[in-house]
Amino acid sequence: MGGATVRRLQRRDVERAIELTDLEQWGYAPADVERLLALSPAGCFAAEADGRVVGVMATTSYGKVAYLGSVVVDPGHRGHGIGNAMMRAALDHLDGSGVETVRLNAYTDVVPFYEALGFSREYDNIRWEGGRAVGATARARFAAWEDLDALVAFDEVHFGGSRRVLLERLLSEFPGTFLVAEDPDTILGYLVGNTVSQACEIGPWVVEPGNERVAADLFFGLMAVSNRPTYAFSAPAVHPEPHALARAVRYREGFRSIRMVRGPARHGGNPGAIWSFGGLEKG
Ligand SMILES: CC(C)(COP(=O)(O)OP(=O)(O)OC[C@H]1O[C@@H](n2cnc3c(N)ncnc32)[C@H](O)[C@@H]1OP(=O)(O)O)[C@@H](O)C(=O)NCCC(=O)NCCS
Repeated sequence: MGGATVRRLQRRDVERAIELTDLEQWGYAPADVERLLALSPAGCFAAEADGRVVGVMATTSYGKVAYLGSVVVDPGHRGHGIGNAMMRAALDHLDGSGVETVRLNAYTDVVPFYEALGFSREYDNIRWEGGRAVGATARARFAAWEDLDALVAFDEVHFGGSRRVLLERLLSEFPGTFLVAEDPDTILGYLVGNTVSQACEIGPWVVEPGNERVAADLFFGLMAVSNRPTYAFSAPAVHPEPHALARAVRYREGFRSIRMVRGPARHGGNPGAIWSFGGLEKG
């Protein structure tokens, strides 16, 4: 592995993590890396060579299912087994902490790297990017702490695991862009806008299937309460409605990614309810 060692990522590594992820133009702000560390302090890793961090990655666990991502190695150190060593450390950590299924969203050209580590393809995802759009927002309202238990239960059905840690964190970080819709007291959907950067990343965005109007209310509701030059989201290709909405508001199609799984293909949720992931790296 070219003399590199793998250790836990620490808060003091945040700035370097941003330098590395900026090389790939992933648009991370320090708050995004700090969030990954807060969600899984023992599950984020750094590779170090000659006293310098040359690779980072993160995992996020939701009980028996975990997601991993933000895998990047400094270009000058690629091809020496560092990425593979970080992944092995991460998978050992997950295997040892009761996780039975691990998922990720891979760039199409990196799929063989993950296949060699035991991952196989599930489905394609499409990313969309565009500006602020205006439309009806009838059912969208701000989420409140009193909604949390119902939100977690609703989300668990569609996501395939309990994202309580994530939803709690997002509600405390983004109370002004965490929206929910209900009918009249059953949750039909929710959406979170991550506004730490100028480009707003939408997700999680989860809607009970058959409620496209509710999904649109949440989408336009976010635009009504935030003012960002660009918005982006990623959804499973097998779920046509998010892509139809993206085309209707003239969003540009971005890159495709491949959702992959390692271990039993359980806890996969319902892609027909997913309008956007909670982030390609955290499921
Ligand atoms: C993907 C990445 C993390 C791999 O790190 P790395 O340290 O270069 O990988 P390793 O040297 O450990 O490679 C392990 C194996 O995967 C293969 N591999 C590495 N990158 C690959 C890629 N992009 N496509 C196909 N195979 C790849 C290697 O050839 C090697 O195979 P071998 O064992 O048969 O020789 C690194 O290339 C990178 O940072 N890329 C840019 C960011 C990125 O795309 N991240 C993944 C987002 S999904």
